[in-house]
Amino acid sequence: MKDDLDTALAHLTAARNVVVLTGAGVSAESGIPTFREALTGLWARYRPEELASPEAFQENPQRVWDWYAWRRQLCLDVAPNAAHHAITALQDLVPELVLISQNVDGLHQRAGSANVLELHGSIHRIRCFACDRPGGDWPDPVGEVPVCRCGGLMRPTIVWFGELLPADVLAQAEQAALGADVMLSVGTSSLVYPAADLPYTAKRQGAFLIEVNPQPTPLSPIADVCLQGLAGTWLPRIVEALSARREA
Ligand code: APR
Repeated sequence: MKDDLDTALAHLTAARNVVVLTGAGVSAESGIPTFREALTGLWARYRPEELASPEAFQENPQRVWDWYAWRRQLCLDVAPNAAHHAITALQDLVPELVLISQNVDGLHQRAGSANVLELHGSIHRIRCFACDRPGGDWPDPVGEVPVCRCGGLMRPTIVWFGELLPADVLAQAEQAALGADVMLSVGTSSLVYPAADLPYTAKRQGAFLIEVNPQPTPLSPIADVCLQGLAGTWLPRIVEALSARREA
């Protein structure tokens, strides 16, 4: 049975290396609008490419900066949900856990997860658009786009349309997938590459693949277990059951 929690738990109990890949669905219950939902209100008039691309930043840096400042505030105004906290708790229930996220909201870190591999960057950190020099955390408060000492403008570290993912982070994620005994794909539509490739990489080398999503995705047919439903429901249930098995 594809929705068999017990089978999933048996593999998680026996696993040494567990990899968790998350997408926007893991933050949905925190009230974070997904990328496309954030194009509302005064931003509704723009297409994503007009706000989340290098061309958009070159054309109107302040507009792009303002949109990310607004989105970042949305992230700061919400809290991690039960799914984030369960993933943090899972780190203590398995020998090795690598958390890979496509999310930029920083909620995994606020829930206590360490060493998050942020494939698509972070809305909380900036770097220079011209020379790539890291600019540290998003400056608070700031209205104007900060200027780098090279004279270039600072931008969020978020990966924009047409940009490559950070090579070092992607390499670590691929390495983790190659060594995974179990991979959990949580709250992602599995449509955006190369992140969406990671579960296939894990599966090809023999990992047991568990998907958590209320909807079927292109990954569902190759998943060993599909836990249909909310991350905030299934992940605490998995953590609770694993904890009980450890105490038994
Ligand atoms: N629990 C689990 N899954 C959920 C929940 C929930 N509470 N709510 C929604 N989902 C699922 C949806 O069914 C969908 O499959 O989360 C997925 C969200 O899909 P997307 O919005 O496409 O987000 P994601 O997969 O992270 O997109 C990848 O695309 O938008 C770009 O760069 C952006 O990182 C993002 C990338």
